[in-house]
Amino acid sequence: MAYYSIQGIQLTELAKQFGTPLYVYNADKIREKISVLKESFLDIPLKIKYACKANTNLSVLRLMKSQGVEIDVVSPQELELALLAGFDGSQVTFTPSGVDFSEIEFAVSKGAIVNLDNLSVLEKFGQTYGNSKGCLIRIKPHVFGGGNEKIMTAHPESKFGISIHQKEEILALVKKYNMKVMGLHQHTGSDIKDGQTFIDAAKAVFELASSFPDLEVIDLGGGFKVPYAPNDAGINMKEVGEAMAHAFKTFCRGYGKNLTMWIEPGKFLVSESGTFLTQATVVKRDPVKTFVGINSGLNHLIRPMMYGSYHYIFNASNADDSKKEAYRVVGNICETDTFSFDFNGKQNERELNEVKEGDIIAMANAGAYGFTMASHYNSRFLPAEVMVDGGEARLIRKRETLEDLIRNQI
Ligand code: LLP
Repeated sequence: MAYYSIQGIQLTELAKQFGTPLYVYNADKIREKISVLKESFLDIPLKIKYACKANTNLSVLRLMKSQGVEIDVVSPQELELALLAGFDGSQVTFTPSGVDFSEIEFAVSKGAIVNLDNLSVLEKFGQTYGNSKGCLIRIKPHVFGGGNEKIMTAHPESKFGISIHQKEEILALVKKYNMKVMGLHQHTGSDIKDGQTFIDAAKAVFELASSFPDLEVIDLGGGFKVPYAPNDAGINMKEVGEAMAHAFKTFCRGYGKNLTMWIEPGKFLVSESGTFLTQATVVKRDPVKTFVGINSGLNHLIRPMMYGSYHYIFNASNADDSKKEAYRVVGNICETDTFSFDFNGKQNERELNEVKEGDIIAMANAGAYGFTMASHYNSRFLPAEVMVDGGEARLIRKRETLEDLIRNQI
């Protein structure tokens, strides 16, 4: 089964060679997903701005760059990483949320294009730069979309963007400071499968766009859902891309100019490339449940505990599915620390091929928001990371040592 190896290398081999817990990324999968996007938005000028909060390993960033993908960052540190990976400042969009203006100035000084998401920062940008620097404005279109409420970002109560109902205030500031608004932006949320949600959000932005005569760009954000299990459905990218491109072309005709569409996918590009490898430390046959305890926890992959997210879990050491058992897969952190959530966001058991202590327990969809959301909770080391490319596995982040935990402590 495809899940048990990456480019012909067994997961158990990788675990033996590099140790666990280990994040492994399949470079071919990332390339494949980039191609799917490029083939889905036909006949319009498109720029893919990888939302790098999903995975900022420099090797992943370099791979994106080599494929002609540009980048979206949300902090000065992500911006620095993008530059280190070789991106030019002009290929970087800075889309922060509620940050101090000094961060905006820093991004501008590096040549990044800035996305402004509140009125006070829009005013400061106007006061500081007048029309000497272009900017994008992030709009909150009042659209509901996203896999769960924590990852919905465009609804009326969301902190993100300037409400579409504040159009007059935006226009007054733009006029007052003679600002160069080169684009409008919106991002609806994450894990969105329904194409209509993207169209509704796009239409809200298109409507506003007629009030901005000098646009070059419409940035429609990311959020394209990926499948999380062998039988789960992701977004039909070709269909949604075609519908978005069609709506965009119609808008451009009405606007009287061919603009460029930007999109900012994170998960879509990297989620499926990643597998998280852990080891079963205990099989605990409790009278009520059987637990598989692994040598990791919410400190390394927080998505299940934070969002109730489903990650496909399998026993990479045992491909024999004739003897399955229901296990609750749990971590070693001193909290309720469960990986096996069901599709309803509830802690539950998973049917796994019989697990023995020492087996390698793997989790799929670990390429996005896995390592980047990991922490040092319980003072455990972060996992190492490996990239498999050209049939070879390469360590791209070393395992930590005690030195890393005490660095900077005085
Ligand atoms: N653009 C903006 C402005 C964003 O805020 C995000 C994600 C994206 C693009 C990329 O969204 P994606 O294509 O990855 O869905 N940690 C959560 C997801 C939070 C997403 C935050 N913003 C998770 O693990 O599900």
